[in-house]
Amino acid sequence: MNSNYVRKSIKVVSLLLLVMMLGGINSFAAGDSAKGKESYNQICAMCHGETGKGDGVAAASLDPKPRDLSSGEYVSTLTDEHIFKVIKEGGESVGKSNLMPAWGAVLSDDKIWDVVAYLRTDICKCQHKAK
Ligand code: HEC
Repeated sequence: MNSNYVRKSIKVVSLLLLVMMLGGINSFAAGDSAKGKESYNQICAMCHGETGKGDGVAAASLDPKPRDLSSGEYVSTLTDEHIFKVIKEGGESVGKSNLMPAWGAVLSDDKIWDVVAYLRTDICKCQHKAK
């Protein structure tokens, strides 16, 4: 084995490792929006409405009203981590109303990330914009 071959192999192996790492990080951060839609329609739509406008069947009796999650203008001010936290730990955990319930006992972390992905791709159609 000449040293040139060894050097090349090391390069190939480290490239492969890098790609695997990036792939891993990616699949962790990005939820599955189709799965998120199922959870959303089951437990969020009754308040936030199927299209996120805050007009679900239970919304009329709530004060404050459920947020308009279809508003790209508003939801782009929220980070993914903020949205994750408010879903998992409830409105109070981020200084909002406790009428926004905590879902940590119902949804696994993975399922919450799926819902975050669904909000981004289909409901607000927006990403977080740093101010
Ligand atoms: C019982 C009614 C109800 C249900 C069910 C509900 N929410 Fe909410 N949600 C609210 C209310 C009310 C607010 C507004 C709280 C405030 O502005 O103080 C809110 C606010 C939010 C916000 C905005 C938080 C912020 O910082 O402004 C997000 C995001 C959100 N809800 C996501 C969800 C998701 C996702 C689900 C389903 C997993 C869900 N909500 C289920 C009532 C509900």
